[in-house]
Amino acid sequence: MQNVQSYIQDQKEVLVSELIELLKIPSISTDSAFSQDVLNMAEAVYNSLKAAGCDVVEVCDTLGYPIVYAEKNIDPKLPTVLVYGHYDVQPADPIELWDHPPFDPIIKTTDIHPDGAIFSRGASDDKGQFYMHIKALEYMIKAGTLPCNVKFMIEGEEEVGSGHLNDFVKNNKEKLKNDIILISDTGMISNKQPSVTTGLRGICMVEVEVTGPNRDLHSGLYGGAVSNPINILAKMIGSMHDYQNRITIPGFYNDVLPLSEKERQEVNQVNLDDEKIKEDLSIEKLSGEEGFNTLERTTIRPSLDVNGIWGGYTGEGSKTIIPSKAYAKISIRLAPNQKHEEVSLMLKNYLQEIAPKSVKLNVISHHGGEAYLMPTDDIGYLAAEKAYEEAFNVKPIPQRSGGSIPVVKLFEEELGSKSVLMGFGLDSDAIHSPNEHFGIFNYLKGIETIPSFFKHFTKMVMESNRSL
Ligand code: BES
Ligand code: MN
Ligand code: MN
Repeated sequence: MQNVQSYIQDQKEVLVSELIELLKIPSISTDSAFSQDVLNMAEAVYNSLKAAGCDVVEVCDTLGYPIVYAEKNIDPKLPTVLVYGHYDVQPADPIELWDHPPFDPIIKTTDIHPDGAIFSRGASDDKGQFYMHIKALEYMIKAGTLPCNVKFMIEGEEEVGSGHLNDFVKNNKEKLKNDIILISDTGMISNKQPSVTTGLRGICMVEVEVTGPNRDLHSGLYGGAVSNPINILAKMIGSMHDYQNRITIPGFYNDVLPLSEKERQEVNQVNLDDEKIKEDLSIEKLSGEEGFNTLERTTIRPSLDVNGIWGGYTGEGSKTIIPSKAYAKISIRLAPNQKHEEVSLMLKNYLQEIAPKSVKLNVISHHGGEAYLMPTDDIGYLAAEKAYEEAFNVKPIPQRSGGSIPVVKLFEEELGSKSVLMGFGLDSDAIHSPNEHFGIFNYLKGIETIPSFFKHFTKMVMESNRSL
């Protein structure tokens, strides 16, 4: 059997066209109009794990979308790697901003991707990335180079908070037992400078409903005497940050741990160019919490954002009313050690406290999750470092990400396993946005890097056991 590089070169067309088939399935978990597509996607993942050569492949039902589970066992004395990923995707809207239909994948070259990138919803988050693992496993089985046991757990509800995965993990601890969890659902710095993600922020999501008068009112007859719920909501939102851009919710920073100088230096190994970001986003100025730079503001510090706000009349022309209701969706990114349930309660209490008597509030919490940290002296990190170095000829940099994968902390708590976040996406992939894409270079490099991780991880575990 040829080595992995020549295998990938030979198989390139097939590897790309198989991914394209998966990308055609609109597995949007948040929209029930697509529920059959999400189920079809689970079946497609099942088929691909079977074809790769797994001995056990199951579609495990949950109260929501199923979890596709698989195993390839070679020897109980060898370590076990559990691969996690998600087959669901974000909605495609605003659909009119896509240059090409989101579920009709197309290959185009860009400045960053001279070898081409596949444009489609889910290309980078996460279909292109979990499929690399299936193809890497297939190669290792064919080549007879699989060095350890492998388990797969690919879920269909990540983009809606993994509500049913929690129970699945808690009820299947023995089944999911592993020596390390391997996840490709993050990014790296660039195709020339790989990085391993060493941190994820937690997340806490709430929805606020403000009710004023029991019906929409004429703003001339009542304006000036009755509280307008949109005005009130806007004011409440405005008062959630102070003049230093710190979050004003009482107690909010109590559990946020300060970073040591050494940790701060490690975080700042990554170079972020403020000028480039401003240019890319067409904005004059970046802003955020005083005392921290852009990189720190988006990775180690918490942040609060309104994701959507609505109410009143938004149609053509004008309509002079005081609306009865106003709504907002708010997400808070959490630093390590903050608890999402506590933060959600603090936010609720604060909103109740600042709301005037003239309106009623209803605040509901959605799913959330805690932040995660991976130490750079963990055997999983070290194996990933070696794998990237072998594939890219450059040592990867540890990088803390501002994004969230809530189940990663749960895996640590319930299974006692660390997760290695070996992402191959780029910030420019436009995940969750129109024209999402995944570089063909990134996809193929991922398939090349994964077997190297397996090899180094197994070797390092066996050596560390021997010396015990
Ligand atoms: N894969 C992303 C998270 C991510 C992307 C982390 C890039 C780091 C770098 C994941 O699918 C995602 O979108 N997570 C959500 C949270 C979830 C609860 C909806 C997020 O971060 O907004
Ligand atoms: Mn993802
Ligand atoms: Mn996502």
